[in-house]
Amino acid sequence: MKAATTRAAVEAEFPGLIAAAETARLRAYAPHSDFHVGAALLFDDGRGERFVGGCNVESDVYGLTICAERNALFAAVAQGRGEPLALAVVADTDEPVAPCGACRQVLHECDPLRRMRVFLVAGAGDAVRETSTAALLPGAFVLDTGDARRRSPWR
Ligand code: THU
Repeated sequence: MKAATTRAAVEAEFPGLIAAAETARLRAYAPHSDFHVGAALLFDDGRGERFVGGCNVESDVYGLTICAERNALFAAVAQGRGEPLALAVVADTDEPVAPCGACRQVLHECDPLRRMRVFLVAGAGDAVRETSTAALLPGAFVLDTGDARRRSPWR
């Protein structure tokens, strides 16, 4: 599922979501790539702000860099949030940004109920692609802990 949509359509369904991702992008620290990415998760869990944002933060030791998507997800988990309803990711691109493999794995694990709406947003223009955590990573690694209960990072 990789459907083209528009900023207006996302705004109508999830008001403020793309703006929250754009606000997060303003905080990106990317001295090496100069590629600024913002992500925002939308919650309706009554446990705080509706949006939790994340930006990419780069390190002089390049491999320590963390992407916007994982920073948003991990921040929300650390805040003890409930299941996010939606995610928007926006970058300095003309086309919707493609999340990296590491983020696809973490996104897959952070969406155990497979209900998260995922919007990849171009920084310039109106291009938005809707996808899902399942479509982003077919054949995702799943650790078999022998625990029959469904695991979730959300409260
Ligand atoms: N990056 C993200 O934050 N999210 C993506 O979806 C793609 C890549 C960051 C990592 C690095 O700081 C920069 O973009 C260039 O790879």
